[in-house]
Amino acid sequence: MKAFRGEILSVPEDPATAGAEAVRHLADGLLVVENGLVIARGAYADLAQRFAEVETEALPGLIVPGFVDAHVHYPQTERIASHGEQLLHWLDRHIFPAEAGFADRDHADAIAAFFLDELLRNGTTSALVFATVHACSVDALFEAALARNMRIVSGKVLMDQGPATLRDTVADGRADTETLIARWRGRGRLGYAVTPRFALTSSDVQLVDAGELLAAHPDVLMHTHLSENLGEIAAVGDRFADARDYLDVYDRFGLVGPRSVFAHCVHMSDAALARMAQAGAGIVLCPTSNLFLGSGLFDLAQIDRHGVKIGIGTDIGAGTSFSVLHTLGEAYKVCQLRGASLDPFRALHLATAGGARVMGIADRVGALEPGQEADFVVLDPAATPLLARRTAGASLFDRLFALQVLGDDRAVAATYVAGDRAYARPPCQARTIHA
Ligand code: GUN
Ligand code: ZN
Repeated sequence: MKAFRGEILSVPEDPATAGAEAVRHLADGLLVVENGLVIARGAYADLAQRFAEVETEALPGLIVPGFVDAHVHYPQTERIASHGEQLLHWLDRHIFPAEAGFADRDHADAIAAFFLDELLRNGTTSALVFATVHACSVDALFEAALARNMRIVSGKVLMDQGPATLRDTVADGRADTETLIARWRGRGRLGYAVTPRFALTSSDVQLVDAGELLAAHPDVLMHTHLSENLGEIAAVGDRFADARDYLDVYDRFGLVGPRSVFAHCVHMSDAALARMAQAGAGIVLCPTSNLFLGSGLFDLAQIDRHGVKIGIGTDIGAGTSFSVLHTLGEAYKVCQLRGASLDPFRALHLATAGGARVMGIADRVGALEPGQEADFVVLDPAATPLLARRTAGASLFDRLFALQVLGDDRAVAATYVAGDRAYARPPCQARTIHA
């Protein structure tokens, strides 16, 4: 057993619907952990006596649940910041050639290790991750995640209509998926997602298979892209001329349900959102990616009108930062351009419990509730001279918002996975945290 003392903040419910009650804040709290699980959380004054014998670490800063990156591509790590194209051309020019390299297991191992360390450096402890079409790219990621005890959900990408260098067959796609599910089921904190890349890169037969795989394995997710970019949407409309809309393409193959996660959803009709809400499917907002590829401005208010569950994704490599804090800052600006105001408590919710709900793991992570896994981040509101100046004497709301707008990896003082410190910022970067 061990305990951590400090300022603790979590937002288990969405403040947009649950109101201010959703915010759980302890100015001087104690988090007690046993076997990687939170067993108690409360005011230090209330718990100190009961856990007087337990070794206690004082953590200066703001303790929040580990971030959940609900949509990210690990094989695109080295192609972040590739200039000059919108989605379909960017894929052809920059991404597909890079992903072809993941046929090489050594390369996949090296990038997987770098990628997961980068997540931890940014305070991310759970993620829903695209691999590549190669089964070995999933093995590489899962082995590296197992070694770090991280909560990672991933799957081999199905894309029998992809470029010649990066294509599976219907039969191989299905067999590899079955093999990977069987190989990794129940190991560590890993989960599997059936992963058709998007409607354009799978044949109808492969999409039928994806639906069958999802139905056959009640413990797996379905992870894909939806209505991201106008060029993509037009191409989907051309190929599936009789579909009601882009969502309907997935729906007709049994891919829209409570375990379905759709990244982007920038251009959505009310009918499609009503269907998503009814099905219990989730959406991942990827603001840096949508800005970078010129895809459009996500309409949070429209999504909210339908009550669809929602998380946050960095979407590396179209996304421009591994930092969920930075991504939340960009989400704020996108909402501003849509005439909505994203408050920092809601932002924190989306990046923790909200994303966990989308990934079907909200019972395990995202809120630091007793019984949940003790994944958490220590944020430093004085990480830079500017942050220190802006947050000195500020309210919790203002400190959190400053971290959202000005923070990034520099503001992550430490990351804990299942109660163990998995990352600590090098001392040279640390600054004194003001009281
Ligand atoms: N749609 C299909 N594949 C991709 C991808 O790799 N990145 C993004 N942003 N959108 C996609
Ligand atoms: Zn993506």
